[in-house]
Formats: sequence, structure tokens, C-alpha cells
Amino acid sequence: MSKVWFITGAGSGIGAATARAALKAGDRVVATGRNLDKLRNALRDVAGENLAFVELDVASEVQAKAAVDEAMKVYGRIDVLVNNAGYSLLGNFEELSTAEIEQLIATNFNGVMFVMRAVLPVMRMQRSGLIINISSLAGVVGFKHCGAYSAAKFAVEGLSASVAHEVEPFGIEITTIEPGFFRTDLLDAHNAKYAGGTIEDYAAEGKAEAMWSGYHGTQQGDPAKLGDILVKIAGMDKPPKQFVAGSDALAVVKPALEARLEELRAQQDLSSSTDGSF
Ligand SMILES: NC(=O)c1ccc[n+]([C@@H]2O[C@H](COP(=O)([O-])OP(=O)(O)OC[C@H]3O[C@@H](n4cnc5c(N)ncnc54)[C@H](OP(=O)(O)O)[C@@H]3O)[C@@H](O)[C@H]2O)c1
Repeated sequence: MSKVWFITGAGSGIGAATARAALKAGDRVVATGRNLDKLRNALRDVAGENLAFVELDVASEVQAKAAVDEAMKVYGRIDVLVNNAGYSLLGNFEELSTAEIEQLIATNFNGVMFVMRAVLPVMRMQRSGLIINISSLAGVVGFKHCGAYSAAKFAVEGLSASVAHEVEPFGIEITTIEPGFFRTDLLDAHNAKYAGGTIEDYAAEGKAEAMWSGYHGTQQGDPAKLGDILVKIAGMDKPPKQFVAGSDALAVVKPALEARLEELRAQQDLSSSTDGSF
């Protein structure tokens, strides 16, 4: 049966690619973004009755609710929510300002929370739905310069894993996607935010921007292929709770989880030694 998708940040990268993949599969899509012109331009060639454009800055809870209401007016249901909108803020934690971190959290975490809050009543009413939250490899493993970005993505993982238990009885599944490097606008000079150069002790290693901006345009992940995978996941009877996307991500996540398991086994006597006597 044809599904209705609601996608945030659909004006570029993984969001736009997912909208294309869903339309190609014969589904209907509510593509949302902060800038309607950008959104329309990005998806101009696939426009038609199966595609609706709705304005949404995910950092606004009011807009999230209004955008979901608008989507319901257009297609009457939401089967798949893709919380995709986000940006990167990179730099040593001590060199990031609290305001920069709070701004990132407002989009990369609060945005997910606001849109989930707005969509969950719809999915509960339907007694079905899939929420796909785009996390990151940095939502599983910590990296230098990624303190703020990782904090937001780990928060998305925690929210998703917990809420999944609450909503499963209503036929709602939640999947987090943990992509490695994908060729999108994420590290484009206009979008990525950087900090650095304010604390002498960190100067020797060079600036975060010099390290990360070089990846732009050379990432091995293809957003179109990820879009097709998300359509495949949306068609599964039992979608995965977490999905690692890309061989670069797999190469990091697998050894990290094995190391964690090894550490857990090495410490298990000490761990259980905290049990009290009754
Ligand atoms: N590409 C990667 O290597 C990679 C890896 C791991 C995770 N991810 C995650 O994948 C998701 C998509 O990113 P992408 O790689 O496709 O990058 P992208 O091409 O830059 O797309 C991000 C989209 O999010 C939108 N956005 C940013 N802030 C927003 C807000 N407050 N409200 C609504 N939309 C907003 C942007 O729209 P504007 O034009 O309005 O800014 C843009 O369309 C992000 O959550 C990112 O963290 C990407």
C-alpha cells in the first residue's frame, strides 16, 4: 500500500534523496524545510500530486505542530516520519560557546523531539507508523571536535530507544540511522559551523575547520542509495532499531561495540560486586 512520508530538511542531501526514493516507490511525500524556494528548487523535477511542500523550521515547536496539521490536511495520514534536519558544529568542546551548543541542540535534538511530539498522536490514532530518526556514526562513537554534535545525536539515540518501548503497543516503530560520511551539503562551507583558535593549548593540532572541510565532496556515501535503503526499511514488517549506514561507519562501529563488550566482560565481577545484601 502506498505510504505517506513526512521528511524534515528535505531541501538537500539525505532528506531530498529520501523524498526522491519514496516518490520513485509510488509513495506520497510531504517535504518540509525552512526555505520553501530552496525546497521547491531541489525537488522541482519530481513535483506533482504525490509531493507537497510545507514550511518547517524544526527548532520551532509551534511550526512543527502546524506543519503536521498541514500534512494531515493534504494527505490525511503520516506513515513514515523522517527526522532528518540537522547541521554540524565542529571544534574542541572548550572552544565552543554555550550559545553555539544550545543552538545546535535546538535543531539537532529539540527538532526531533518537537516533530515526534506532533506526529505521535497521528500515528497512535492510526495504530501504525514508522519514525526514522537520522542520527550519525557520531551518535554511537565519540570523535574529536564532535562533542556538541555527538551529544545531540546520542540524545536522539536515547530518546528513540526509550520512546520505542512506549509506542510499540500502538503499532509504532522507531529506527535510528547511523550514517558514516555521505556526499551532502553537511560540510559545505555555508552550512558547517566551526570553532577554534581561542585556546593556545589546542593550537598545535590545527583548526577543526582545516581537518573537516577537506572531506566535503569526497565522502564515499551516496545519499540516493541511502534513500533507497530507507524505503526498504519502511517496507519491513520489523524494521531494525538501529541501522549503520556505510562501510566506513561499519568499520568503526563494529570494533567499538566489540571493545565495549570485551570491557564489560573484563569488569563484570567488579560490576556485580556493587549488589547489596538484602
Ligand atoms: N552527510 C553525512 O555525512 C552525515 C553523516 C551522519 C549524519 N548525518 C545527518 O544527516 C542529516 C541530513 O544531513 P545531510 O548530510 O543531508 O546534510 P545537508 O545536505 O546539509 O542537509 C541538512 C538539511 O537540514 C536542513 N536544516 C538545517 N537546520 C534546519 C532547521 N532548523 N529546520 C529545518 N531544516 C533544517 C537544511 O536546510 P537549510 O537549507 O534550511 O539549512 C538541509 O536541507 C543530518 O541530521 C545530519 O546530521 C549526515
